[in-house]
Amino acid sequence: MVHKRKKIGIIGAGFVGSTCAHWAAAKELGDVVLLDINEGAAKGKALDLYEASAVENFDANVIGTSDYADLKGADVIIITAGLPRKPGMSRDDLLSTNAKIMKNVCLGIKEHAPDSIIIVVSNPLDAMAYVAKETLGFPRERIIGMAGILDSARFRSFIAEAAQVSVKEVQAFVLGGHGDTMVPMPRHCSVGGVPLLQVLSKEKVDALVERTRKGGAEIVGLLKTGSAYYAPSASAIQMAEAILKDQKRILPCAAYLQGEYGVEDIFVGVLCKLGGKGLEEVVEIELNEEERAGLQNSINAVKELVSALKNLDY
Ligand code: NAI
Ligand code: 2OP
Repeated sequence: MVHKRKKIGIIGAGFVGSTCAHWAAAKELGDVVLLDINEGAAKGKALDLYEASAVENFDANVIGTSDYADLKGADVIIITAGLPRKPGMSRDDLLSTNAKIMKNVCLGIKEHAPDSIIIVVSNPLDAMAYVAKETLGFPRERIIGMAGILDSARFRSFIAEAAQVSVKEVQAFVLGGHGDTMVPMPRHCSVGGVPLLQVLSKEKVDALVERTRKGGAEIVGLLKTGSAYYAPSASAIQMAEAILKDQKRILPCAAYLQGEYGVEDIFVGVLCKLGGKGLEEVVEIELNEEERAGLQNSINAVKELVSALKNLDY
């Protein structure tokens, strides 16, 4: 049997997109097509990364383009096109501009890569995933949003730092929308298998939950000219890898809900099983009253964002 390399499309060759390309090529997940309206940036970064393969010895072709026809046959496409946040801006301030960009990108994908599995990264995430679903018309298995892995990575790294243990020992996840109402789940966290609340005091955990909720703004405040990209791109690539290698991983991602947690027709961060078919299962967990209220609050915020979106002409 001839083994064919996988093909990964990455839309947007900015900070998140080009760093996704870097992780994907270095991990030899497949050949990479980096697409941007700024053709020179896409081609220049792709060529530079391809030349790095001669030093790092990875086998992956990397091309840059602004032509959607180059996405033909892509297995997975990661969409990062759109404006990032500046200090003082919320993710929601990006709604109108990024909705237009997302629609335009999805029309190109629909024409040239109709069988691909889409990972949406552009913000505001839960609304942009909705625009992608509306424009592409793909089944929910093939459109998944990235946010939960990033928010959970922040929570896990803060816990590891506070407990002074390797981050590998820390299991934790964050559910809900990718905004200030996101819901870190301390009751479901463990450090080396020990429940988090036996390892750190409630006060410390509450402070880490708060820092996690503001994790994106913390980076924006430091960078001043844009938003985070190393952890976001690593998170998107973890999703791509789970799909491309049919890993059946359980990861927090934004899924289009169809009745889970009593929610219909919006994207919300939940635990998902990712494998070769994309979103293979939404894993519903039992929540206590406080967790349910937190998730409901976050769901309401996403619903508001989606109704604002529906009033826009994008
Ligand atoms: P960036 O400004 O560095 O890159 C964006 C790229 O999109 C630019 O190269 C731009 O030319 C390109 N672009 C704009 N319109 C386009 C179009 N119509 N077609 C193709 N390309 C187009 O921004 P960065 O830092 O890479 O962030 C990208 C997006 O990802 C932002 O919306 C940001 O808020 C979001 N983000 C989401 C995260 C999440 O957790 N979901 C985490 C980090 C970033
Ligand atoms: C983040 O959380 C900006 O959504 C982006 O870093």
